[in-house]
Amino acid sequence: MKHPLDPLSETEIANAAALVRGKGGLSGQAWFETIALHEPEKTELARGNPPRLAFVCCYDPGSGQTWDGIADLEMGALRNWRHVVGAQARIVAGEFAMGGEIAKADPRVVAALALRGIIDLGDVLIEAWSAGNFGVASEEGERIAYCHCFLRNTAGDNPYARPIANLHPVVDLRRRLVIRVDDFGVVPLPAEGASINVSATRNDLKPLVITQPDGPSFTVEGNLVRWQKWQFRVGFHVRDGLILHMIGYEDEGRLRPIIHRASMAEMVVPYGDPRGGAFRRNAFDTGEYGVGQFLDSLTLGCDCLGHIHYFDCWHHDWLGAPKKIENAICMHEEDFGILWKFTDTVRGGVTVKRSRRLVVSSLSTIGNYVYGFFWYFYQDGTIGIEVKATGIPLGTGAKDNDLARYGTRVAPGIDAHVHQHVFSFRFDMCVDGPRNAVTEVNFAAVPVGPDNPHGNAIRTDERKLTREKEAQRVMDLAAARYWRVINPNKLNAYGEPVGYKLVPGSNALPFSDPNSPVGRRAGFMYKHFWATQYAADELYPAGWYPNLHEGGDGLPRWSEKNRSLDNENVVVWYTLNYHHLPRPEDWPVQPCVYASFHWMPSGFFASNPALDVPSPSAACC
Ligand code: CO
Repeated sequence: MKHPLDPLSETEIANAAALVRGKGGLSGQAWFETIALHEPEKTELARGNPPRLAFVCCYDPGSGQTWDGIADLEMGALRNWRHVVGAQARIVAGEFAMGGEIAKADPRVVAALALRGIIDLGDVLIEAWSAGNFGVASEEGERIAYCHCFLRNTAGDNPYARPIANLHPVVDLRRRLVIRVDDFGVVPLPAEGASINVSATRNDLKPLVITQPDGPSFTVEGNLVRWQKWQFRVGFHVRDGLILHMIGYEDEGRLRPIIHRASMAEMVVPYGDPRGGAFRRNAFDTGEYGVGQFLDSLTLGCDCLGHIHYFDCWHHDWLGAPKKIENAICMHEEDFGILWKFTDTVRGGVTVKRSRRLVVSSLSTIGNYVYGFFWYFYQDGTIGIEVKATGIPLGTGAKDNDLARYGTRVAPGIDAHVHQHVFSFRFDMCVDGPRNAVTEVNFAAVPVGPDNPHGNAIRTDERKLTREKEAQRVMDLAAARYWRVINPNKLNAYGEPVGYKLVPGSNALPFSDPNSPVGRRAGFMYKHFWATQYAADELYPAGWYPNLHEGGDGLPRWSEKNRSLDNENVVVWYTLNYHHLPRPEDWPVQPCVYASFHWMPSGFFASNPALDVPSPSAACC
């Protein structure tokens, strides 16, 4: 039995592609950027049985136009099928690969490589990155990729091992030709790139086996997951990757909704080196490429440990042919140490409960980097969101006596750039019902005086952010600031609106100038917290089509409407900035780095909702 929020099936993807090929009026060269479920709105879900719709986006190189609309899979019709004026579809995997091949075939590029002593192109990697929008007249309105070049190491296991500095073919992906070769001068090639596979591995690691003799404690029906008191649906999109829907927690026999839809909606990696062509490096991995199409097929025992449930995902290639990613989403339980404990030192007696969390995760390999998106559900009603980043830091070639001014010397002749990984998570909230409000909580020291004679008083200031222009906030360590989403229509046992609080973790702010090309396109990254009133077409914080866009779209533009957030369908956006100056220890491959934040119940329950977790059995203790 299909649920209206289930991702498109193989057949549905093929049918949507056929419908557009047949009725979309595009040339035979047109290719598919996106074929994904067009999700029904909450009201349609509530009415039941909404039609199966696909959102389809195509790029037609014949006309240079991007088209999108809705394929009605039941009626066999296209709806709102339109040329999106000024938009550039994302660069999909097929086009990304093609861009590199076009550059490699150009005699000017071959000559520039020869100048650097590279004659055999077999080990050369040329990546066709989105060029961004730098106001270069010859690039305006064209589908431009700005290429970055690398040479594989001799061990053969690292295509990014030897950056070819200062050489940047500029490719027109529509006309399939090199329009220019930016060469900022020869830098000697780094002598050799280290292998990431060493032969002398340590030999003192004993087996660690996780057994669940009675199986897992979750159940899965299609894409519906139940675990402990949690319930949610697992979704997928070629652009966003893993999506979670209808997250709720059962409380005294009643399922209480918390978040209707949660996703990693955009990410941008601004690099901080202004020299040569490195200033062009600022990848919007979601909006320019698509995180979902690059999900890894995960392997038991390697990527995942324990009793795993895998979800396969169906995406498509640029011809619209369905493609399966086996084991794309991993779900399992993890022991997470102590949940709570109390020792009665007066009468004696210890009560201790062990914490177990449910982990839903996916890994996405985008070029040199691997991003893991991990969603944790805890027995006490907490939801954790964690990004893991690994892979190979992006570097450039450097002369031995040059200072690594905008990065770190990670190997002889290689500087890895200072950069940031900025993620925007979107949460369509429904805390105990569809109408919510947003508050900010700050703490302050009370001035010493008659009300605070001993200088210890801490004042709590909670204020509503009632409109969108107020709800654009940054973290404040001095105020121990956080934000809450409350339901003013549902009061808890103490007469207060029930709520969930967003607890920021480690974070940073951007260094890119707000008026720089990347700053204009990623306006969302200048605030850690945004709240907007729900609108069906406001899914991506840098706008729907950030590729080559001049900027200003998305959250900054929508928030200009200054819509009410008081007792409305509220959407919360959290910006997580991982500031990264690579270390020599991040080379030749970076151990996972972690960044996280949490949603925690805050007056949602009357007391600790995990009191009823059983004590571990004596046999285990
Ligand atoms: Co990094």
